[in-house]
Formats: sequence, structure tokens, C-alpha cells
Amino acid sequence: MNTWTRNSWRNFKIRQQPTYPNMEELEAAEKELNKFPPLVFAGEVRNLKKDLAKVCRGEAFLLQGGDCAESFSEFNADNIRDMFKVIMQMAVVLTFAGGCPVVKVGRLAGQFAKPRSSDFEEFGGVKLPSYRGDIINSNEFTQEARTPDPMRMIRAYNQSSSTMNLLRAFSRGGLADLHKVHKWNLSFVKDNSLGDRYKVLADKITETLAFMEACGITSENTPTINETTLYTSHEALLLRYEEALTRQDSLSGDWFDCSAHMLWIGDRTREVDEAHVEFLRGVQNPIGVKAGPTMSPENLLALIEKLNPENEEGRLNVIVRMGASKIESDFPKLVRAVKEAGKNVIWSIDPMHGNTIKTSNNYKTREFDEVLREVKGFFAVHKAEGTFPGGVHLEMTGQDVTECVGGAQDITETDLEARYHTHCDPRLNADQALELAFLIAESLKDARANRKNKKG
Ligand code: PEP
Ligand code: CO
Repeated sequence: MNTWTRNSWRNFKIRQQPTYPNMEELEAAEKELNKFPPLVFAGEVRNLKKDLAKVCRGEAFLLQGGDCAESFSEFNADNIRDMFKVIMQMAVVLTFAGGCPVVKVGRLAGQFAKPRSSDFEEFGGVKLPSYRGDIINSNEFTQEARTPDPMRMIRAYNQSSSTMNLLRAFSRGGLADLHKVHKWNLSFVKDNSLGDRYKVLADKITETLAFMEACGITSENTPTINETTLYTSHEALLLRYEEALTRQDSLSGDWFDCSAHMLWIGDRTREVDEAHVEFLRGVQNPIGVKAGPTMSPENLLALIEKLNPENEEGRLNVIVRMGASKIESDFPKLVRAVKEAGKNVIWSIDPMHGNTIKTSNNYKTREFDEVLREVKGFFAVHKAEGTFPGGVHLEMTGQDVTECVGGAQDITETDLEARYHTHCDPRLNADQALELAFLIAESLKDARANRKNKKG
């Protein structure tokens, strides 16, 4: 194999990159990014790997979720806080009702670049470059807006940095305190059946905390009661940005992509001999790789060999996204091949990207029931194969949007236009996300029980 350096990817075929019109400006922006401080530290990344090793062994569950694409225009403290709250709510539901520790990883503080099915978009006889996410260009349909601008990488870095800052403050500064479990309920969730269901669970937690306190287990001696860790992740798509934030750890000499704790490779850029795989094989972060319906067992084993040659637990997360109607037929062969080869991977399910449809009124949407059906299929396959369903990967928001149809609020196709705000794919709103967490918790409890029986 060739020697890896943080820019060795430049010698490989690459997909899904913008064409910048001005190379000097691009190089100046890269130079500036190179000088900026890292957004995460090697020690944190190692901790995530340890946490994910537990997921790999079936001792914990991975909850990964957030926006499809973060944007410059929706950037404000309330949105970050609400996303944080809904992730905390889901985690508490999975921990308490599912009986399983949860590793929380946000799709945030860096999730800006989007792969597109076409390089160009045509509208009313005008052909312009496709929108590729706010880190590259802007969504308005004008030549100027769609021209890739390297200064957007600097802005994305700055936004990621203040998002990280607020998340760290929320995690350690009191908002994550389990005594505040009632306060995580968002106002619009409070008044419906789901809000009631959450309140019952929150009451039980409050009662349990009082009991534990009486036994001497308090936040003074057990910090996990009032603090949490929310790791960050995004698709490592725009490799110039990722390269500039890749740094060598002074203690170990290892290289880390310090733009996020975990990075993943998208379904469109996962060719084993191409640039994205080359780049990520050399950094020590936990890595995800999306597995859509075209992923064959041979492809997957080749990727595993390249991305995790040491067979480390917690290094590789295979994020399956087959679609509800394919999961039970197409997924088992991957599980079997990996099991037979004795490879350590985390299996998680992205029930979003294989279930996107267009409505008659021309909205991209996803049906809640299809999302749930793919999750259930994923758990069923693991039950049949005797493997562990390690996690879930969701596109969601803390806002009361109308982007996915169905769920307890029964959002219809005609409701979609009311609050359809996404910059890319349709997200579950906070209600739908919480409902899904309750439903996953049931399956998780069952999977954990099977695991224990097998071991015992
Ligand atoms: C995504 O996660 O937003 C995405 C584009 O997914 P995929 O690569 O699986 O299509
Ligand atoms: Co998406």
C-alpha cells in the first residue's frame, strides 16, 4: 500500500468536489484553515473510540443524529439548544426504557457539505452548478450564489467552533443534569400524547434519582448524573477542508482529523481505491461508512481491510441504508460475510436515506412508518443472525417542522408546506424523533436480553 500522508488523497480519483474558479483564493483559505486551532482533541477522539468499542461488543448503543445539512441562515443558539435537548431526551428514553447505555454523537458542528446526484441543476432553461452545502455555495438559484466560494470554509469552521463551544457548555454546565429531565421536553411536544409518555418516564427517573440520592449516589460522587458527553460527526466529503484540520497528536505521533470526533464516508464516495477512503484510512478517528443497496459483501470486506486493518473494536461503523423494502433481503449477506471473516464492526441503521420519496405536490419526504419499518427490519436481521444492532443514524431536528409525513401528529402531504425548512433532506421533527426513540427502545430491550441469554 502507498504511504499515507494527510494529502496523499490528492493522487487518487475523487468524486463530488466543487470546481473553484479561483485557485489562489482557494489556497489562501486552506492556508488560513491550517493555522486555526483544532475543533476536537485527540484524547476526546480516543474516548469516543473506547465508547464505541463497547457498542461493538454489544454493551452500549450508538445514537447518531442531527441535521441533514447545517446552514448559515439557521444558525442560532435556540436551534442548537433544541437539538441538544431532543438528543438528550432520546438518549434518556433509550437508556431507561431500552436498558442500555447510550453513546451520543451529533450530526453537527461541521455537517455542511452535501453529495449531489447531478453536478448541475436546470430550471426554466437556465443551467447552474448544484447546491453542495453552505460550506461550498449558496442555495439561491443565481450564478453568483451557486459559484463555489472558498471563504465559506472559514465561515463553516467558525460556525462549527461556536456550536462546539455551546455544546460543551450545555454538556457540563447544567443543562444535561438528569434532575432537569422534565425541562428537556420542548414546548410543542409537551401538549400531546408523546409529551405525556415522556413525562411518565421523566417522573420515574426523578423518583429513581431521589432513591439513589438516599443511598448516597449523588452528582457529587457520580458526575454522569449531571454531566454528559455529546460527540460530533459529519460526512468527510470536502477533503481540502478535512485535510487542513488534520493534525498530528504530539503525544502519540498519530494523525487525527480534528474537524470532528467521528467522520463518515457517504454512499456515493466509498470506492475502495478512491480519494475518500485513502484520506480516512490514515486518521485515527472512529470512521463510518454508509452501506446502500449496491454494497456487496466483497466491497464491504475490502473496505474493512483498508479502513480497519488492525481489526480494532470501535474504529469502524457500518451505517446501513438499504430502504425499508430491501433491508431484510439485502442486509443478511453483509452480516454473514463480516461474521465469517471475524471482523469487528459496529452495525448501525440509517433509516432515512433509503426511504426518500417525492410527493405529488413535489416535496421530498419520508414516511415515518417506512423509517420505522427499516429499523425493525434491521433489528430482525440481527436477531436472526445472532449479532448486535449497534446503533441508529437519523436526520432530525429539535424544531417543530413538517418535513416527514406520519408519526403521532399524523403529518400529511398537504401539511408539508406549513413548515418545510430543511436545506437538504427531510428531517424527523422533535416529536417524530422522540416517538421513534420509544419504539426503538422496545426492540433494544429485546436485543439486550438476547445478548445476555447468549452470554449467560
Ligand atoms: C447523508 O447522510 O446526508 C447522505 C448523503 O447519505 P448517503 O451517503 O447515505 O446517501
Ligand atoms: Co441527507
